[in-house]
Amino acid sequence: MRKLLVIAISVFTLFACTSKTETTEPKEENTTQVAQEQTNLSQEAVSLNDTTGKGLKVLLINGSPRKEGNTYLALTEAAKQLEQHGIASEILQIGTEPTHGCIACNHCKKTGRCVFDDDLYNRAYNLMSDCDAIIVGSPTYYGQPNGTLLCLIQRLCYSASSIMQNKPAAAVAVCRRGGATAVYQTLLMPFQMLNMPIVTSQYWNIVYGRDEGEAALDAEGLQTMRTMANNMAWILKKIHNDPETPLREKEHQVTNFIK
Ligand SMILES: Cc1cc2nc3c(=O)[nH]c(=O)nc-3n(C[C@H](O)[C@H](O)[C@H](O)COP(=O)(O)O)c2cc1C
Repeated sequence: MRKLLVIAISVFTLFACTSKTETTEPKEENTTQVAQEQTNLSQEAVSLNDTTGKGLKVLLINGSPRKEGNTYLALTEAAKQLEQHGIASEILQIGTEPTHGCIACNHCKKTGRCVFDDDLYNRAYNLMSDCDAIIVGSPTYYGQPNGTLLCLIQRLCYSASSIMQNKPAAAVAVCRRGGATAVYQTLLMPFQMLNMPIVTSQYWNIVYGRDEGEAALDAEGLQTMRTMANNMAWILKKIHNDPETPLREKEHQVTNFIK
């Protein structure tokens, strides 16, 4: 009797395992199919109103020294989607040259420009003046954004806060495996204190990849970029249809904790 019971349990377990494997595989196929269908649907929806963003421009800052690496790939995915809305974009490469960080000299408070007159900063300043929104992308380096990018951003924010304010901004972090959420949060910090509306997506703006071009395999990451670009286009069009800026008090209170 006991032998019979053992055989019955074994047969049942074997059947349960087999049917589990059978249901898992088609589910994966379905997921890919659904993602593809959703992409097609979003492309269709986008092409309906592709002309209304004309005249608008988004500045993309590639904070990677690799000119056409994974950060570039993530940013260009967003740029292609913006183009669907008739919105232009221009990419600024951080490059491989060293740059200064902010030295807290307050020169920019008197002149409006950073005391260091280098090419990267000047290009960033001019592009920032000309654009309607900004997307900053960085690779993850030891759980942090690229230092060269941070140097530039700090100098830009201190000297160009008046031209940055009210412009929608998004951050993008790229990593092999971990630390990207810290990068994402760090990149957003200056925007959040410069009255810049933050543009979000269906997930945090994170794309995965290690070797150059690998990010092309991250289907969800790239979709997140497209959704962020759609949201950016939506916000930009709303702002430009109604350009009235929010009410702000004339005097900006600045108090230190000690006085
Ligand atoms: C100095 C250095 C540090 C890195 N640190 C991390 C890390 O902390 N976490 C991670 O997931 N990837 C890390 N990576 C991998 C990069 O984030 C990854 O290769 C990314 O795709 C590079 O983007 P890019 O192609 O735009 O340069 C590091 C790469 C370098 C060169």
